[in-house]
Amino acid sequence: MTIRLPPREQRTGPIYLAIADAIGREIDAGRMKPGSRLPTQRALARQLGVTLTTITRAYNEAERRGLLSGEVGRGTFVRPAAIDIEGPEHGVLDLAVNSLLPLPYTEELADRLAAAIPRSAGLRVFSYQPQAGARHNRAAGSAWIGWSGLDAPLDRVVVTAGGQHAILLSLMALTSPGDEVLVEELAYPGISDLASHLHIRLRTVALDDQGIRPDALDEACRVGRPAALCCVPSFQNPTAAVMSEARRQEIAAVAVRHQLTVIEDDVYGSLAPEVKPLSSFLPETQCFYITSMSKSIAPGIRVGYLLAPSSMIERLSVTVLRTVVNAPPVMAELATSLITDGVAGRIVEWKRKELAARQDIAGRVLRDLPLQTHPMSPHMWVTLPEPWQADALVARARHRGILLTGAESFAVGHETDLRAIRIALGPPATRAALEDGLAELVRIVQRAPDAYELVV
Ligand SMILES: Cc1ncc(COP(=O)(O)O)c(C=O)c1O
Repeated sequence: MTIRLPPREQRTGPIYLAIADAIGREIDAGRMKPGSRLPTQRALARQLGVTLTTITRAYNEAERRGLLSGEVGRGTFVRPAAIDIEGPEHGVLDLAVNSLLPLPYTEELADRLAAAIPRSAGLRVFSYQPQAGARHNRAAGSAWIGWSGLDAPLDRVVVTAGGQHAILLSLMALTSPGDEVLVEELAYPGISDLASHLHIRLRTVALDDQGIRPDALDEACRVGRPAALCCVPSFQNPTAAVMSEARRQEIAAVAVRHQLTVIEDDVYGSLAPEVKPLSSFLPETQCFYITSMSKSIAPGIRVGYLLAPSSMIERLSVTVLRTVVNAPPVMAELATSLITDGVAGRIVEWKRKELAARQDIAGRVLRDLPLQTHPMSPHMWVTLPEPWQADALVARARHRGILLTGAESFAVGHETDLRAIRIALGPPATRAALEDGLAELVRIVQRAPDAYELVV
């Protein structure tokens, strides 16, 4: 097993980080297999001509990144892939699924899962629950929402089976078939799926680099009678726009003027605690606020929280019953323990740092492409140079082992410009893998499409 370092003149930063990066590259390239043993620290120090302490720090760093595990007396080993139980498609780099797994916390999360249900609580947890959730789980949701700066009394909180479920509940509570709902002109595809199943018509509202435009919303409210607006004010998916506080106030003022109910999908909100939720500028009766564990902690924890007007809680409880009977109580216990013991807060802080580092890398590698993003965003929106179209680039990148999401996946209206892609920065297991993948993407973009790749 050989660990190759880039030549000295291409390295920046401490050598132990370069060694940890190199280990990451070897693993990503499949040259170091899960379970294989690394050289002893002394042997590697000799091989690379560095001190033993440097190797110790490099191995510690690689362990912290979830790449290696050390066993006293046995040595250091490549960890089994923590990303995907079935393993990623061989050699494929995923920049499509918008998820940053908390790799350094996977063992702690597994321990918490085991500890979340004390034997004495088994009977309660394994039974059916009140539809809005058990009281202490609603209280944890109330605390979690409260950290965003929004007042969330627990009797207005409903525990849901994730963010998507919370959107479904909100739409079912607020609309009837044939109603119209306003959405961003490029929108998270989950909303379009729900709308078509519920026979709701979607009408788009124009976006700028801060999300929904107040003038466009005002205009949209004058035409027809929309039942609600559904929007993502923090890290809009896909454009990564974050509304400033002033923008939130303007949007709230338009909504109040037209008595428009707002479904605020804030699943990324914990990553931007600097800005208060849009709902904090709206009266209680006009806001449905949604958060979930997926983006803050991990998408396998299928728990979300919906803050709704008191008058709607009864109706929402019935809707929970009709859709999933109960949000999964075992998962709700885990989420509660993560929130109340401060683990959730620690993971969010780690994510913010990791995403900031990944944004730096992406900003550097993609510097020649027009990017719309935010220093802490989990995704970025990239406009492609002529004559590229998103579907052609997505196909070519896939052929070269990189998964991306093209603009058409987010298009709600027909008039969307399809020359853009969304890049999710979270899925690569290491920063080095992300950097390599983005560098390859730049090479792919730089070679103009062949004529047959373009739709004519
Ligand atoms: C804007 C937005 N809302 C909701 C969801 C769904 O979140 P959850 O996994 O909590 O259902 C996603 C997932 O990607 C999303 O991007």
